Amino acid sequence: MKVLVIGSGGREHAIVWKLSQSPRVDKIYCCPGNAGIAEIAECVDISPKNFKALSDLARYEWIDLTVVGPEDPLAHGIVDHFEREGLRIVGPTRAAAQIEASKVFAKDFMRRYGIPTAEYRVFTSYLHAEEYIKMKGAPIVVKADGLAAGKGVVVAETVDEAIEALRRIMKERVFGDAGERVVVEEALTGEEASYLVFTDGETILPMVSSQDHKRVYDNDKGPNTGGMGAYSPAPVVTPEVETKIMERIMKPVIRGLRKEGLRYRGVLYAGLMIKDSEPYVLEFNCRFGDPETQPILMRMKSDLLETLMAIVEERLDRVALQWRPEASVCVVLASGGYPGSYEKGKVIEGLDEIKEMKDVVVFHAGTKYRDGRIVTSGGRVLGVTALGRDIREARERAYEAVKKIRFEGMHYRSDIGIKALNREAADIQ
Ligand code: AMP
Ligand code: GLY
Repeated sequence: MKVLVIGSGGREHAIVWKLSQSPRVDKIYCCPGNAGIAEIAECVDISPKNFKALSDLARYEWIDLTVVGPEDPLAHGIVDHFEREGLRIVGPTRAAAQIEASKVFAKDFMRRYGIPTAEYRVFTSYLHAEEYIKMKGAPIVVKADGLAAGKGVVVAETVDEAIEALRRIMKERVFGDAGERVVVEEALTGEEASYLVFTDGETILPMVSSQDHKRVYDNDKGPNTGGMGAYSPAPVVTPEVETKIMERIMKPVIRGLRKEGLRYRGVLYAGLMIKDSEPYVLEFNCRFGDPETQPILMRMKSDLLETLMAIVEERLDRVALQWRPEASVCVVLASGGYPGSYEKGKVIEGLDEIKEMKDVVVFHAGTKYRDGRIVTSGGRVLGVTALGRDIREARERAYEAVKKIRFEGMHYRSDIGIKALNREAADIQ
């Protein structure tokens, strides 16, 4: 079979890497891809925004299945477009993708189905929102309604900070139309975890739990990024918590989407806050997470292509997923200056050495070829991912590999997985 993967990050490299292990996959295309993906797939320089060019490629190359990495094409209806063209694609329709693309939709949906989440109000008026923030006091969370590349959420420690965020979102319109409405919500405390499932709209098959690291510096300091690393499993997601996530969140959401006539076939990702073993939803994403997908797919034993085909053919009830018992850790190597401005085109050294290492895979994010060498071309450059008997061993392997890689300005967090270690130690005591 021929498969097309849309996107160019570490998540897409992990998807392509996993698909390439399927005996049924003959050829993989990726639009636009990166230097790492180019080693196992044919990269075609088409933007994920250009639906017409993508569906033309799928038709002319006789592609059997298309898989979408990022949220943007899903929120703009790539699934609707491909299906109109009679092409097979995994992902929610534009209407169903609102679960990620509109925070107001997601919160109101959760309220309709009694799904545990922070208490909230929706505002279209700046003045009313300001009044509400003053009345509630801090800490408080202000969220732009629409997609804002992960930057539309401010967890404010003071009322002034919340009002400043509100002003930027609603008055300055720093995220454009995404700031037409805002959600103002209660700040939750606890530990975050990511929980992803495959679904064909009826059957739900969970993946292994994971946790990402959003802040740029160690000990969760500094500004938010796209994610500086992740590990799996997340010890905070105990079997008891997992049962609650499935029963109180995943099942009612999938049932609710179906009831509202929203066709959802793909991956549903719940960003959770877990407090005293009670899970609350912070957000939904309508796709695989980045960087969570890297450690998750390292642990997946089952065939990803078979799973995705079962989703589009709505026969996921006949699939049983298998996972490796080992833990995995992914450490992101970023360009100097990221998440602020950074330079591109730095030569990356040391990648060949790692190819010899067992149970370590370097997933590329912002990389490309220049004059036969691999150079940086984005903020997040590589995701060094390792398996180990437990988080401790996976961490050691990942950081051992990290030491072999060099590029000018490279920086990374040295504490990926530490929280899980501390928890393991606390459980033993
Ligand atoms: P979101 O895009 O909604 O996931 O928000 C991004 C990040 O903001 C989350 O991963 C949390 O770290 C934080 N966050 C969002 N909502 C809340 C909340 N109600 N309470 C505390 N932190 C939150
Ligand atoms: N890791 C967060 C996300 O994929 O949205």
